[in-house]
Amino acid sequence: MPKWCSATVVDKRTWTEGLFTLRVATDEVQPFLSGQFLHLGLYPNGYEGDDSKIINRPYSVASPHSQELEFFIVLVEDGELTPHLWNLENGDEILVGQKAAGSFTLKKSPPSEVLWLVATGTGLAPYIAMLRTSEPWENFEKICVVHGVRQFSDLAYTEELLALEAKHPGKFKMIQSLTREEASGTLNGRIPGLFENGEIESASGFQCRADNSTVMLCGNPAMLDTMEEILGKREMKRHRSKSPGQIVLERYW
Ligand SMILES: Cc1cc2nc3c(=O)[nH]c(=O)nc-3n(C[C@H](O)[C@H](O)[C@H](O)COP(=O)(O)OP(=O)(O)OC[C@H]3O[C@@H](n4cnc5c(N)ncnc54)[C@H](O)[C@@H]3O)c2cc1C
Ligand SMILES: NC(=O)c1ccc[n+]([C@@H]2O[C@H](COP(=O)([O-])OP(=O)(O)OC[C@H]3O[C@@H](n4cnc5c(N)ncnc54)[C@H](OP(=O)(O)O)[C@@H]3O)[C@@H](O)[C@H]2O)c1
Repeated sequence: MPKWCSATVVDKRTWTEGLFTLRVATDEVQPFLSGQFLHLGLYPNGYEGDDSKIINRPYSVASPHSQELEFFIVLVEDGELTPHLWNLENGDEILVGQKAAGSFTLKKSPPSEVLWLVATGTGLAPYIAMLRTSEPWENFEKICVVHGVRQFSDLAYTEELLALEAKHPGKFKMIQSLTREEASGTLNGRIPGLFENGEIESASGFQCRADNSTVMLCGNPAMLDTMEEILGKREMKRHRSKSPGQIVLERYW
């Protein structure tokens, strides 16, 4: 059970119905690395003060450590916690675990020429946190964010990513793919298929090989499994401290 600190919602941005970013203020969270996760929690009605009753789940922090923390969340309709998070408004209180956890960070990732940051849905969150630090820009020659969602309205943080493309031409590329509709400027299909048929590499202009790339994968576990299989055909494997590889992943469920 995490040690809890109290935080206040200072901003809620709704990207589309059920898909939102919460900004919460607290100065009690211990310093953490971009890419790590914190627990968010709420007391169920009538149980305020009873920590054993707190409903809580882990969330990647979508911003670097500071006194305001960002979380990118999707409403799971029949979920236990997210319907309550979705109902929060500015000024509401929320519980945040004091100490972050997780090894889905650039520190724990192998060095390479190209960094692939691959996400489905809210799996984009840890990459937003990383891209807001100097670390990826200093340590990789090329960086490509690949974001796969169901429909165009689910594409969050586009403006911020486009601004990075404009700031780092030739070094940074954003690829967005949709699975349930088509839209100009986006690819069509699930991420693993688009890697396998070469569409993502050709759209980015970067190559994804065992000798030049680090691939971070985050979000839907089925996407992670299929990507690992596909990258395996390119002699790429999970990175472990005792057995270096190219793939680092974070499963959301
Ligand atoms: C390390 C880690 C980091 C995470 N970071 C985030 C994050 O930044 N943003 C976020 O929205 N969720 C994140 N999650 C998922 C989060 O912890 C909860 O599982 C999710 O919010 C659902 O909680 P719930 O109580 O409403 O649903 P539950 O009753 O716990 O239902 C869980 C089910 O909801 C679905 N589900 C869970 N998470 C997602 C998701 N992100 N996208 C689509 N379907 C999902 C799955 O089918 C899962 O089996 C993370 C999970 C882990 C393990
Ligand atoms: N706007 C929103 O995103 C939104 C809003 C409100 C509520 N919700 C709820 O949130 C939950 C799902 O959220 P989500 O759409 O963010 O997550 P998701 O279901 O994980 O889908 C995100 C992307 O991952 C793809 N995907 C699924 N399985 C895959 C696999 N095996 N390999 C590769 N890619 C795969 C999906 O493609 P497919 O389309 O082919 O599955 C989609 O493009 C649902 O409970 C939904 O009702 C979502």
